[in-house]
Amino acid sequence: DFTCVVFISGTGSNLRAILEAIDSGALAGVRVAAVVADLDAPGLAFARERDIPTHIVALADYDSREDWDRALAECTGRYAPDLVVLAGFMRLLGSPMLEAFGGRMINTHPALLPAFPGAHGVRDALDYGVKVTGATVIEIDEGVDTGAIIDQRALTVQEGESEEALHERIKVIEREMLVDVIAKRARTQ
Ligand code: GAR
Repeated sequence: DFTCVVFISGTGSNLRAILEAIDSGALAGVRVAAVVADLDAPGLAFARERDIPTHIVALADYDSREDWDRALAECTGRYAPDLVVLAGFMRLLGSPMLEAFGGRMINTHPALLPAFPGAHGVRDALDYGVKVTGATVIEIDEGVDTGAIIDQRALTVQEGESEEALHERIKVIEREMLVDVIAKRARTQ
């Protein structure tokens, strides 16, 4: 099996898409060994209902960011993942995670990088007034959304569209792309 550990902070729509693709056979041979969150994220429910182990590793429970990052690396390492997938994980990872899983960590972002990196990609793109935006899957490096681009998908912004409506449309293309990227990794491993 191609083993993944998925990191989330939010509703887990990307996690759900991965799990459903495994169920349907679209991600045959892929296994989500565990889901890790930095808070009690609603999306953990998708893992719990499938009896996939979940871990909440909260920054506030550690003396330093480095200790927190080390705890994440230790927790993740127990599952010996082929790939760590950040699927809406809203915190930056530091050197312990990078040293342990560099080259085997991907992130999905709701904008066309290198435009609009960071925590508010959808809002920042809307505020700028772009007419085309989308989603990007990147490799993780030490920067903020600076890793090599693996795939991108674009869509046209609608007149007067709200941040929420646009983000929902981005998430549709984002999760399809993320599943495709994981499938390709699993095939070429
Ligand atoms: C996704 O759109 C993801 O790209 C974004 O958070 C959302 C999580 O949605 N991540 C970032 O903005 C990272 N900087 P989900 O919890 O429903 O999968």
